[in-house]
Amino acid sequence: MSSLSGTDWQAQIYLQGFAGRKSSLSIDLLSLEEQARRMMSTEAFAYIAGGAGLESAVRGNRSAFEAFQIVPRMLRDVSTRDTSVEVLGTKLPFPLLLSPIGVLELAHRQADLAVAEAARRTGTPFIFSNQASYPMERVAAVMQDSPRWFQLYWSKSKELVASFVKRAERSGCSAIVVTLDTTLLGWRTRDLDLAYLPFLEGKGIAQYTSDPVFLELMEQPSPGPERNVTIQSLAGLIRMVNAFPGSGFVGKLLSGKPIKAVRKFVGIYSNPALTWSDLRYLKEITKLPIILKGILHPDDARMAIDHGASGIVISNHGGRQVDGSISTLQALPGIAAAVSGKIPVMIDGGIRGGADMFKAIALGATAVCIGRPYAYGLAVNGTTGVYEVIRNFAADFELTMALAGCRSVKEITRDSLAG
Ligand code: FNR
Repeated sequence: MSSLSGTDWQAQIYLQGFAGRKSSLSIDLLSLEEQARRMMSTEAFAYIAGGAGLESAVRGNRSAFEAFQIVPRMLRDVSTRDTSVEVLGTKLPFPLLLSPIGVLELAHRQADLAVAEAARRTGTPFIFSNQASYPMERVAAVMQDSPRWFQLYWSKSKELVASFVKRAERSGCSAIVVTLDTTLLGWRTRDLDLAYLPFLEGKGIAQYTSDPVFLELMEQPSPGPERNVTIQSLAGLIRMVNAFPGSGFVGKLLSGKPIKAVRKFVGIYSNPALTWSDLRYLKEITKLPIILKGILHPDDARMAIDHGASGIVISNHGGRQVDGSISTLQALPGIAAAVSGKIPVMIDGGIRGGADMFKAIALGATAVCIGRPYAYGLAVNGTTGVYEVIRNFAADFELTMALAGCRSVKEITRDSLAG
C-alpha cells in the first residue's frame, strides 16, 4: 500500500494539475452525483440516487449535518496525525468503510470487482452486498488479505441463510452484517415511475445463482405472475439470460434456469416475519461477529447488545426505505449513549466529506460508512474512481481533524462541536 497521507494526496493533486493532469472526478461529492448521472442510463441512476416516497429521508440525512458546527482549536501541534481506528480487532487506516451496495453492475461492468481493488489498495473494509453483481468468492480473491464483511439479507430459506454465511466464512469475511430494514422493499418513487427493478432482469442476484442451495431451491416450483410477451419483455428476457452465469445463450434460454432463478429470488429474498429471537439461529451457525445494520432507536441498540450483536450500523438505508424516517445523525447521540461504548457504533447516510465524518465521530460513532459516493466514483471511472473517492474522503478527514486541533481520532469529542 502506498502512503495514505492526506497531505501527500492533496499535494499530488496540485502537482499533477501543474503538469496538466486533473483528477477524473469531481472532488465535490455533490457535483460527483451529477457527473455520474451523465455516465448511466436513466434507470440505473434512478435506482442508485433514489429514495423512498418524497425522498425526505434522503434530504434529512444530509441536512442533519448542518445542525452541528465544528469548533476548531488552535496551537495544538498537529504536525503528526493519526487517523487510524480499531473496529472489532482490525486496525483501519481511517474511520471509513464501504457500505454494501447491490447491483453495482448498473454503475460499471466490473462492479464489485472494481470496488474490491480500490478497497484493497487503501485498506478500507468493503462490506459485500447480498445483492452483489459478482459472487463473494470472486470479490474476496481480489481483496487478498484486506478486511471485508458480508452483508446478509435474511431470506425465507434458513438453508440459504446458512449457505451464504458458510461461504462468507470461507471467503475470509470477518463479520456478518445483517440488514434489518429491508424485510420489504420500500416505496421507491423513481423506480416505480420508470417501473424498473433490476432484479427482474437477473441483475444483482449473483450470490444466489452461485449458491448450491439456491440452485436446488430454484428447481422447486415458484408461483409468479404470467407475463405478457412484448418487445420490451423480450429485451428484458435477453438481459436476464445474459445475466445468468455460464456461456451459450440458447442453451441457457432453453434450460429455463434464468427465469426460474429470478422467480425464486423474488419469492424468497426477504422475510418480513423476522423477529429478535431469529438472531439465535445465526449465533448457532457462525462464530463470526454479528453486526446489525438499520438501527435507529436506542432501545433497538440495547436489544442488539442483549441479543449478542458485536456492533451496529445506524442506518436508514440511505433514505430508501421509510420516507420521513429520522436521519441517522439525529439518531446517533441517543444510540451512542445507550450503547455506552460496549460495542462499536457505525453510521451511514448522507456522509459526503471529512467534516461529516468528524461530526459523526464527535457525536459518538466509532467509524462511518459511505454508500452512493463510491458507486458514483465507480460509474465515472471504475476502480480509479472508487480509489479517488476513498482518498478524497480520507484526506479531507485528516485535514479537518488537524485543522480542528485534533491529532488523533480519540481527541475528537462532543466538545469539538457546537450545536
Ligand atoms: C444500498 N444499500 C444497501 N444496503 C444493504 O444492506 N444491502 C444492499 O444490498 C444495499 N444496496 C443498496 C443499493 C443502492 C443503490 C444504494 C444507494 C444503497 C444501503 C447502503 O448500504 C447504505 O446504507 C446507504 O447507501 C448509505 O447512505 P448514502 O451514503 O448512500 O447516503
